[in-house]
Amino acid sequence: MFDKIWEDAISLNSQAEPDFETLPAVSDLPERVSWGIDPSTFRLEHPLDHYIALDRFPIPIAEDREGYYGDRHFEYWLSGLQTAQETINLAKAHDISHNVYVELGSASGRVLRHFAYRPVFSELWAFDINWRHIAWIIRHLPRNITAIHNSSVPSLPLLDSSADMVSAMSVFTHIETFELQWLAEIRRILVPRVIALISVVTDHQIRSMTSEWPMYASLTGHATWSGTDDFIAKLRQQGKLVQRWRADSSYSSNVIYSEDYVRDVFSRLFEIVEYRHQYPDFQDFLVLRRRS
Ligand SMILES: C[S@@+](CC[C@H](N)C(=O)[O-])C[C@H]1O[C@@H](n2cnc3c(N)ncnc32)[C@H](O)[C@@H]1O
Repeated sequence: MFDKIWEDAISLNSQAEPDFETLPAVSDLPERVSWGIDPSTFRLEHPLDHYIALDRFPIPIAEDREGYYGDRHFEYWLSGLQTAQETINLAKAHDISHNVYVELGSASGRVLRHFAYRPVFSELWAFDINWRHIAWIIRHLPRNITAIHNSSVPSLPLLDSSADMVSAMSVFTHIETFELQWLAEIRRILVPRVIALISVVTDHQIRSMTSEWPMYASLTGHATWSGTDDFIAKLRQQGKLVQRWRADSSYSSNVIYSEDYVRDVFSRLFEIVEYRHQYPDFQDFLVLRRRS
């Protein structure tokens, strides 16, 4: 084994041969308690127990799910169900046909697992630059998810106009560079007139964030942090600021935009059909439509 391989410059854990520890399926978790997420607000078609009974797959330990929700495993599961249900609601609202769903930066399938046990989309694609996440999905989630390890160089091995919906949640918040090429790549694979769901961190969050906010410590602890007002002023001038923690690998930064820049630049590639502040909680959320 080598300490560093060339693939690590453009992806993560490429030489890992993972041996995963996992948690039980949601129905077998020792406790199912939620402090912060209220499933009665999800607009589910069936009672919550229906989904708990269907999801028979193990839950990743926190280290294999980007640390999401720490030891609050049931909330991790609920958060995926919430995003999946919201995605279904948006698909309905925007008249999306339920064929090919693509998630960029899927991690170990927080959201996709909830499409795997329900007949919502007929094809499910997961992409992530972290081989451990892709290996986790291949090993533990059903075969109706096609999981592919991609690199930080924007390219998705899918045909032009073949995806009915693409999502990238908390991903453009860490794409240091080539993000316009990623947007163009998403646009290329989308069927004309259908939508992509993308979240970003903007000056809006910088203004309203508190110390409980997940990126607060890393954002304000970085050498480029110059206090709220000055940081926002710089952001408005530059449009995009990258706080890098390392120079030799991908996914090593916080990326923050100004809302004006997002509206200006993203709208050159897509029609921005919805721009929601702080949705569902800590980021801005965009519904982007391929024009033609
Ligand atoms: C903060 S996590 C969000 C995970 C997931 N979208 C969710 O909402 O649970 C960001 C994920 O994006 C992946 N990622 C970052 N840059 C990427 C890129 N250029 N292509 C694919 N995946 C990427 C990371 O490896 C990580 O799994």
